[in-house]
Amino acid sequence: MSPTPTLPTLLADLVSDALDGIGATLPEGFSPEISPASDPRFGHYQTNAALVLARSLKDNPRNIATRISDAIGVSELATLEVAGPGFLNFNLSATALGNALTALATDPRLGVALVSSPERIIIDYSSPNIAKPMHVGHIRSTIIGDSLARIARFVGHDVIADNHIGDWGTQFGMILHGWKTFLDHAALEANPIAELVRCYREVNAEVKTNPVTAETARQELVKLQAGDPENTKIWQNCVDLSRAGLQKIYDRLDIHFDTWLGESHYNDRLRPLVDDLLRKKIATRNDGAVCVFFEGIPRLEGKPALIQKSDGGFNYTTTDLATLAYRIHDQQATRIWYVVGSPQRLHFQEVFEIARRHEIEAAMCHIAFGSILQSDPENPEAPPQLMRTREGRSIGLVEVLEEAVERARSTVEEKNPDLSEDEKAAIAEAVGIGSIKYFELSHDRSTDYVFSWEGMLSQQGNTAPYLIYSYVRTRSIFRKLDQEIVPDPKNVELTAPAELALAFKLTQFGDAVAAVLVDHRPHLLSAYLYELARQFHSFFEACPVLRSEGTTRNTRLLLCDTTARVLAQGLNLLGIKVVERM
Ligand code: ARG
Repeated sequence: MSPTPTLPTLLADLVSDALDGIGATLPEGFSPEISPASDPRFGHYQTNAALVLARSLKDNPRNIATRISDAIGVSELATLEVAGPGFLNFNLSATALGNALTALATDPRLGVALVSSPERIIIDYSSPNIAKPMHVGHIRSTIIGDSLARIARFVGHDVIADNHIGDWGTQFGMILHGWKTFLDHAALEANPIAELVRCYREVNAEVKTNPVTAETARQELVKLQAGDPENTKIWQNCVDLSRAGLQKIYDRLDIHFDTWLGESHYNDRLRPLVDDLLRKKIATRNDGAVCVFFEGIPRLEGKPALIQKSDGGFNYTTTDLATLAYRIHDQQATRIWYVVGSPQRLHFQEVFEIARRHEIEAAMCHIAFGSILQSDPENPEAPPQLMRTREGRSIGLVEVLEEAVERARSTVEEKNPDLSEDEKAAIAEAVGIGSIKYFELSHDRSTDYVFSWEGMLSQQGNTAPYLIYSYVRTRSIFRKLDQEIVPDPKNVELTAPAELALAFKLTQFGDAVAAVLVDHRPHLLSAYLYELARQFHSFFEACPVLRSEGTTRNTRLLLCDTTARVLAQGLNLLGIKVVERM
């Protein structure tokens, strides 16, 4: 069964037929572009076709628009109006919107189209460093990456979600030294990540003042890199413990990776890669080190990339180049998305530039994001700073999750004291975790934002609690009916303005989902869901559902049910769970 054409497709066909009718010779490949009206007062959609065609039809745009409109005459789909310099505005008819609602309600995909040419996309996100705590900065990568993975999959791409953990590198010299000299085995058992972090921090602090410790840590690293059995065993132990700790957080966040190919996975590929780059003259030897120069390239010029140090060691850039080659040749990716903070912009520019010279063919994209800031409660006037604890460390993600759930729990306690303990706990978990995710995803990723419990957990405004509550409201109507009713999607008649507006909003879900992937911006979907929820509340206030009858009642129930499905599906694409009561 072919999918029902969308409203914009129907309108485009209408315009094309009219152009045929007036015998216009159109430029090769022309098809009228239909875009949402900039202001609801101008109708639902508009087209600039007449402006685009002015030159080839040798007529002024307003005339062309009028001719198109006259050729269409009275349409069952929409009324037309010529506006401004030659725009055509479309005001959809109640019948057209009713049919669109029927199509949406009977479509398991709720109007979200599958892409015509699916790609294999590797999404590199979260990617924390072993034995360092995941901090609130990592939360952005984890949540944005997960949402993009869900959306890309939903539209039909073949997605590999990869957690490229930092499980190799200089920090292991320090961890190994700490492990051997003062590891607390009981503490390690109780909270492995915390104990590993303590080892790292203590040695790291000492290294700065004591050259002997610095040298010992360096020696431990050299031994590890040379494959020393004792150090390899400790390293493996650290990796396993950290992975287990991270896995618990991901489970709680309902975030799942297909692969965990950390930096260490690429160890054996670094030397051959550097040799190959030297052979191809992409890299050059320079004072015992190996570099790539970027003459003439804006921002990179004068800052050569070091891909092998003079002591023979490799670094972050080398690993990323080897990773990239593996993803393209072994994993056959056609697209790679790196969800990593903006401070690494130059790093990725460098990596992509070297890859290009190395004839790596894939679309690589650094999906950058800003920082999370915090205002000082004692000095609210001061500009917000990077989020840190009082000791100047980044706040742990686990603590933030715990607190969000606890705060959500007290709201449930207050609003719904009679629910069972299990149900209260489940609601608090869904709302608490959902609030953190939604707060992240409702901000444009490029900008910094200020962390705020109120902003996250408020029952009003563009928040997870408001959206989940809206879902609950759409469902609670069905519980109030004296018998179970499944609204008939074919028995639809839209009359009240609030019904028409809600139906129209619902039909735009597919466009909102597609818009996210244009520039990897999940906030476009959250903005849509928020508008939908508001439209639903206006409808719910204006149009009684339970007290209505016949087709009106069926139509209103269908609007409630379809809103519920779109909200649940949309939130699911953001990684957020809904609850049936709250
Ligand atoms: N481990 C790195 C960090 O925490 C992020 C890795 C991102 N991915 C990559 N392929 N470089 O800063």
